[in-house]
Amino acid sequence: MITCNKGKGFFHLSNSSVSLVLQLRQDGDMGQELLQTYFGSPIHDGDVSLPSYSDHFSNDGLRTVLPYACPIDGLGDYRPSMLRVMDSSGRRNAELFYESHQIAPGKPVLDGLPATYAENEDEAETLLITLGDPVTGLKAVCSYTLFASSTAVAANVKLINSGTEALTLENAASACFTFEGRYDMLHLHGTWAHERNVERIPAARMTRQIESCRGASGHEHNPFVALMRPEASEAYGECYGFSLVYSGDFRIAVDENCFGTTRLVGGLNPRTFRWTLKPGDCFQAPEAVVVYSSNGLNGMSQTYHQLYRSRLCRGYWRDRERPILINNWEATYFDFNHERIMKIAKTAAELGVELFVLDDGWFGQRNDDHSSLGDWVVNTKKLSKGLEGLSEEIHGLGMNFGLWFEPEMVSPRSDLYNAHPDWCLHIPGRRRTEARHQLTLDMSRKDVQDYVINAVSAILRSTQIDYVKWDMNRSFMEVGSELPVEQGEIVHRYMLGLYRVLAEITSAFPKVLFESCASGGGRFDPGMLYYMPQTWTSDDTDAVERLYIQYGTSLCYPASTIGAHVSASPNHQIKRVTSVEMRGLVALGGNFGYELDLSAQSPEDLEKIKEQISLVKNLRSTTNKGVFTRLLSPFDSNFAAWQFVDEKRVVLCVYRILAHPASSAPVIRLRNLPLGVSYRDENHRVLSSEALMNIGIRPELKNEDFSGFIQIWERE
Ligand code: GLA
Repeated sequence: MITCNKGKGFFHLSNSSVSLVLQLRQDGDMGQELLQTYFGSPIHDGDVSLPSYSDHFSNDGLRTVLPYACPIDGLGDYRPSMLRVMDSSGRRNAELFYESHQIAPGKPVLDGLPATYAENEDEAETLLITLGDPVTGLKAVCSYTLFASSTAVAANVKLINSGTEALTLENAASACFTFEGRYDMLHLHGTWAHERNVERIPAARMTRQIESCRGASGHEHNPFVALMRPEASEAYGECYGFSLVYSGDFRIAVDENCFGTTRLVGGLNPRTFRWTLKPGDCFQAPEAVVVYSSNGLNGMSQTYHQLYRSRLCRGYWRDRERPILINNWEATYFDFNHERIMKIAKTAAELGVELFVLDDGWFGQRNDDHSSLGDWVVNTKKLSKGLEGLSEEIHGLGMNFGLWFEPEMVSPRSDLYNAHPDWCLHIPGRRRTEARHQLTLDMSRKDVQDYVINAVSAILRSTQIDYVKWDMNRSFMEVGSELPVEQGEIVHRYMLGLYRVLAEITSAFPKVLFESCASGGGRFDPGMLYYMPQTWTSDDTDAVERLYIQYGTSLCYPASTIGAHVSASPNHQIKRVTSVEMRGLVALGGNFGYELDLSAQSPEDLEKIKEQISLVKNLRSTTNKGVFTRLLSPFDSNFAAWQFVDEKRVVLCVYRILAHPASSAPVIRLRNLPLGVSYRDENHRVLSSEALMNIGIRPELKNEDFSGFIQIWERE
């Protein structure tokens, strides 16, 4: 519900689990400024009052401490801001005052950008507050959507130039929230094959910030931050999440001032952004989803999981069980032909695998990573029966067929580059730096976008293709375009172009399952999930490494989005030897698949794989859609554990990393089960939900390095 009290000058967005308060503050004769004064457990309208610190400062000093909802540079608010607006002489010249507001049922669509959505009007309510600058004519429409049964608020700002002179935006972030008190900052950092490690930085009176300026959200920092009260943990205490629905350059800053007030602001990265707003132009900033939890990090994650699984992901596959796939990348790399693929596919089909994915190397002259990106034409030297013949034979085995693309790239050794050397990002007169022997196509150009749409669509139309892996394997350098626009716009225009391409292709092929990828998990973000409901999590497929990666990823992203494959042992990235059981139990924590030469496995392992596949088929409704709770962190201990719960069953997975003599596994107490319910294990032993949560169980984990344990309780 959204209430507006004009007399007292506040807006209160609330439901049974959260309240967000925005207040208007009179600034002399100038007008009313918009403050965001509360976000947390539900309060009453009558509880809303201005914070007491407003009395202690003179007017100019006050600007450094006020909790502005849309802070702007240049006017005495020295903290990280949302907006930096220059007039035509280069002055930082804009100031925003309340003009009007509107309360709308449901949630408006964001033009050209990914965003969460409401399926009908009573699922959410949106407050749109228009602020305006009487001098330049700049308007900022600040939007806040509260979902009816969630502690998530989706926020964004739209900027409009209603004046007569062009303005330049040098910063246009998405949202700013202020919290009283000190907060630890948790973020997910990494690098290639080592994504989303959890790091908790204690509260500090400084600006802590994460960012990407690589053209993708990146392996280094995920566009997600959690703020935690110092006493908060996985299970208890107050936490906030900030997640940006965007796939390119971003910045999220957490600033604590000397009064112990914490400002959280995030959006496009001002380091690589500039935009000209001509009279009459609009600029839409991406959406940020901010979540409140009074139940620790797990409470926050569950809110994101629920919202992103059901109101960010879309389409035919959103609610469907995802197929168990086999991907040939780690089985063959570039070295395959029709017969070799069919050999793996036949074994996979016999074991019950449902989808065969042909990875890199099927097109142009691509026998290694030195050539052919952009030439999306099948290589019939390798695939003697073409894609059509291969797809037909794979379908004949009762499996679906999927294909890898890297459409945003071009190899300098390709027909595409020879025909259009100006189609890549480049700065005239500078070298074109290759990474993985490739250049980035200039997706800000409509002709390039159209080429990509047509090239990918032609293949998808040419034969039965049920799945696409959409890869992106390098960061931006030398960002320049022949598009006649302010060149500071190119990084964001690239992303808008890519989103257009994804919107066109995914709507033209609604039944195709799309999975995004960027050298593993280099673009695992909510923006991509809007178009493609699953993501390849990491190029590191080692089961133990994956415990950390999947644990970190689960902070913000639901299991149904996390691609997780059983690969070969010794593992190809780090040579670790693990059992097929351990590898299977770790992959069960995400979207399950295989990535090894199944036709070369021992008969014993093949028997185990067959059992694994039938177990996954039996459990995937629960592991894809059930409530996921982290129980033990590999970052803090020698064990990892998590549980999935739905109305049918409880699935508990526990993993030991290293074995020690005379050590026993810890007792695991399950969490958040419905009270008064009986559960039966496979030995017909019945336990109450109270027993599972309060007494717990000691998992029968082997005292061996890298061992896994699963226990399933069916609801009586
Ligand atoms: C990237 C992906 C891998 C694989 C290769 C193919 O690294 O993350 O899964 O598809 O490209 O070149």
